[in-house]
Amino acid sequence: MQIVPMTDHTGAEVRGLDLSRPVPDEVRTALRDAFVRHHVLAIRDQSLAPSQLVQAVSLFGEIFQQHNTRFALPECPQIHYLSNQDSFPDGRRYIPGEGWHTDHSNDTRPPKATILHAVQLPSFGGDTQFANMAAAYEALDAATKARIEPLIGIHVYQSSHSGRKLMALSEANKERVPNAVLHPVMRTHPESGARSIYINPIRIEGILGLDHKEALPLLAELLQHATEERFQYRHAWQPGDFVIWDNRCLLHKANGDYDMAEMRYLYRVMLQGDVPR
Ligand SMILES: [Fe+2]
Repeated sequence: MQIVPMTDHTGAEVRGLDLSRPVPDEVRTALRDAFVRHHVLAIRDQSLAPSQLVQAVSLFGEIFQQHNTRFALPECPQIHYLSNQDSFPDGRRYIPGEGWHTDHSNDTRPPKATILHAVQLPSFGGDTQFANMAAAYEALDAATKARIEPLIGIHVYQSSHSGRKLMALSEANKERVPNAVLHPVMRTHPESGARSIYINPIRIEGILGLDHKEALPLLAELLQHATEERFQYRHAWQPGDFVIWDNRCLLHKANGDYDMAEMRYLYRVMLQGDVPR
């Protein structure tokens, strides 16, 4: 197995590994270390049926129950799918994952990682972009670091300030998804100890104790800074990619820049995380 960094801050490619076969303990340890060090791992050339994918992701942690069960695979509900072939009830096409975000931050214990496994890809485009929020935090000036350190973000299923609208939750799903949760705007990675900015434009409703006139410009300024190109890794998908990323220190976004007549379909799994601190 080879692990080859993609940039000097985010992303590594893993070659020479077959996740459909048993993985020795030392390889598992190397993968977990590489995940924490590189934040995004692209394990190439996999071909995993849903049950094999469940087995493969267990190398990295326990499966997290996703909030909107309408995307669960009937034959294997722990796995959801992402597809460009779904529409909103009004007929508009739904492109999952557009706009910068971190997954399910409206959970008390948001998923530490998300895994996507490419099943069908368009012939061109559809990259996933990642922004390294730890590198972005480190690059803040001292005054901004001090300003955000005590702040608490209010996260909800759908922020009223977000331009991107999510697919509505069913009544049963609303029952189990919190109305709002509080997370620090600066969080410390439980494994690496690195500090990072923790915001989420599609889920963050405000900052506790700040009025919107102050909170929204601050959040916009943090987002603009954190998504500068110097903090980004852009993943160009290849058939068979198994990509795992760390939601605790990254933002990501999909790009709906390809021919929508072509199918884009990936399996999605998330892994249980900790309470952000
Ligand atoms: Fe996402």
